[in-house]
Amino acid sequence: MTGRVAGKVALITGAARGQGRAHAVRLAQEGADVIAVDVCAPLPSVAYDSATPEDLEETVRLVEKLDRRIVSAQLDVRDLDALRTAVDGAVADLGRLDIVVANAGICVPAPWDQVTPTIFDDTISTNVTGVWNTVMAGAPHLVAAGGGSIILISSAAGLKVQPFMVPYTASKFAVRGMAKAFAAELAKHHIRVNSVHPTGVNTPMGSGDMQAVLGAAMAGDPRLGGMFTNLLPVQGTEPSDVADTVLFLASDESTFITAHEVAPDAGVTEF
Ligand SMILES: NC(=O)c1ccc[n+]([C@@H]2O[C@H](COP(=O)([O-])OP(=O)(O)OC[C@H]3O[C@@H](n4cnc5c(N)ncnc54)[C@H](O)[C@@H]3O)[C@@H](O)[C@H]2O)c1
Repeated sequence: MTGRVAGKVALITGAARGQGRAHAVRLAQEGADVIAVDVCAPLPSVAYDSATPEDLEETVRLVEKLDRRIVSAQLDVRDLDALRTAVDGAVADLGRLDIVVANAGICVPAPWDQVTPTIFDDTISTNVTGVWNTVMAGAPHLVAAGGGSIILISSAAGLKVQPFMVPYTASKFAVRGMAKAFAAELAKHHIRVNSVHPTGVNTPMGSGDMQAVLGAAMAGDPRLGGMFTNLLPVQGTEPSDVADTVLFLASDESTFITAHEVAPDAGVTEF
């Protein structure tokens, strides 16, 4: 078998659609088998449509079409016990685990004085605790395998403040710090841990609903609108663009890259 991650197995959360599905397909194209996790149910506090069980089935179909194996599980990453049970079972089926992509997340933009305690809690429990849970469920298998790559999906909002997103920005800075903290302790097992920081990506999360909320918020404080500007002359990027970065970090091409931020951000964080 050939491919840049041939023979490896990857756990991906939020794999029903959007970037998570793109990571599953890209890694499978390069020879990896996949463990695909998604809640496939209404997401707390969010305005955009949620993923469905049919979305997760479509990811399964796309990976199988590439002649790779895939085990899927419908669960909430906030539930560590469920995550551990699913990951342990899938690793027993597929034989090993080498790559963890903690991708599941939510974004609920709002001006600071419209953020409720529920929005704040939902964002932190999904984007921070859910990522921690994912590493806790996956890392023991990487230790057993003698090494691996853990990729935590943060955001441009984890490198540079993005306005009208206090809970999201707090959560994504936390993910960036978490990657470095895990990298320090897991290094002795030859496990690398890095964070990924995309600019706006064309997925249901970044849909018209989100643009409408941000547009309304910017009307109240137009000076901050420029903070979303990419250096490169593009409005946004595609899930496959982020998947290319994830593939690089998952592959042996990045053997000595750990505890770093990798940003397919079109330069937004320097604007
Ligand atoms: N879309 C963007 O503009 C953008 C930019 C930078 C970073 N990101 C980050 O990229 C990641 C993927 O986002 P996306 O754009 O593909 O969004 P998306 O909404 O299309 O996909 C997210 C997936 O995660 C799943 N999910 C959410 N909460 C979950 C939970 N508690 N348990 C299990 N699954 C859950 C959803 O069901 C969905 O399938 C997120 O971490 C997001 O914060 C997105």
